[in-house]
Amino acid sequence: MFRAIPGANLSARHCAFRSVVEPTRRLFASSSLSRSFVSSESSQIQEEKAAREETHFGFKNVPTDLKESLVADVFSSVASKYDLMNDAMSAGIHRLWKDTFIRRMSPMPGAKLLDVAGGTGDIALRYLNYQDKINYDSTSSVHLVDINPQMLAAGEKRFAGSRWVQDERIKFSVGNGENLVGIESNSVDIFTIAFGIRNCTTPQNVLNEAYRVLKPGGRFMCLEFSKVEQPVISALYDVFSFKVIPEIGQVIANDRESYQYLVESIRQFPDQRTFAEMIRKAGFTTVREGYENLTFGVAAIHTGFKV
Ligand SMILES: C[S@@+](CC[C@H](N)C(=O)[O-])C[C@H]1O[C@@H](n2cnc3c(N)ncnc32)[C@H](O)[C@@H]1O
Repeated sequence: MFRAIPGANLSARHCAFRSVVEPTRRLFASSSLSRSFVSSESSQIQEEKAAREETHFGFKNVPTDLKESLVADVFSSVASKYDLMNDAMSAGIHRLWKDTFIRRMSPMPGAKLLDVAGGTGDIALRYLNYQDKINYDSTSSVHLVDINPQMLAAGEKRFAGSRWVQDERIKFSVGNGENLVGIESNSVDIFTIAFGIRNCTTPQNVLNEAYRVLKPGGRFMCLEFSKVEQPVISALYDVFSFKVIPEIGQVIANDRESYQYLVESIRQFPDQRTFAEMIRKAGFTTVREGYENLTFGVAAIHTGFKV
C-alpha cells in the first residue's frame, strides 16, 4: 500500500470535504424552495461567500477552500478510466509528449526524482525505464506523490509485481503538492509535475515547495497544457476541446462533467510566458524563455534550475 505523507490524512479529509461540498452544491442548485426561504437563505450564502475568497474551478467561481475537494471528486471519478481516456482524447499524443519530457530531462544516473501529482505513474515509469535502458543505472529512484488515493491505487496496481517495486526504487505517497509535509528541504535532484499543477488551488505554492525540496543544482520540470497562439489551429483546437472531448468523456467514462472541467481548466491556466515568470518568482533560474512548446503549444515543458 502507499504511505501517506505525515499530516496528509486524505481519506478522512476527503470525507470531510465531501460533507461540505455536497450540501453546498445542493444549495447552489436549489430551485424548489419557497421564494422567501430562497431569498433569506441566498442572502446568507452571499454573506458567507463574500467572507470567503474565490477561485476558479473550470469556468465557475468557487470558494477557494472547496476547490481541492472538487478536484478530488473529478479524479476519483475518472481514476479507473484515466489511462484509457488519455489515449482516446489525445490519440496517443500524450505518450509522445511524456517521452519528450523524459528525453529533455536527460537525468543523471542515481538521481532522486520527486514526481508530484504523479497519478497513475506515466512519468515515474518512463523515468525508471530511461535510467535502466539509457544510463544502465539501478540506483535512481522515484517518489510519486498524489493527493488522490484512487489515482495512486491505479498507479500502484500498474507497478505491482514489477522489479521497480521489488528493488524499492518507487514509493507512493498521498500528499498535497502545495504543502509537501514530510519531504525534507534540499533533498531531491529532480522535481516533476505533469498535467497536475493546473488542478492545484494555488500553483505558486507548488512552485515554492519545488524550490524548497530541490537540492541546490536541482531541476524543476513541468509538463502542462498551454496556449495555442496560431489563430487557425487555436480555433480548431477549441472546437475539438469543447465539442468532442466532453462527448468522449461521456461515452468512455460515462462522465461528461469531469471532462468539461478538464477543458475549462486548461483555458484558465496561465500562458507560457506568465507561467515561466511564476517559476522565476519561486526562485528558479530559467534558460532563455524557460519553456518549449509541444504540438503548437497545446502542451509545454517548463524548466527551472535551483542554482
Ligand atoms: C491529469 S492527472 C496527471 C497524472 C500524471 N501526472 C500524468 O501525467 O498522467 C492530475 C493529477 O493531479 C493530482 N492532483 C491534483 N491536485 C493535487 C495536489 N494539490 N497535490 C498533489 N496532486 C494533486 C490529481 O489527483 C491527479 O492525479
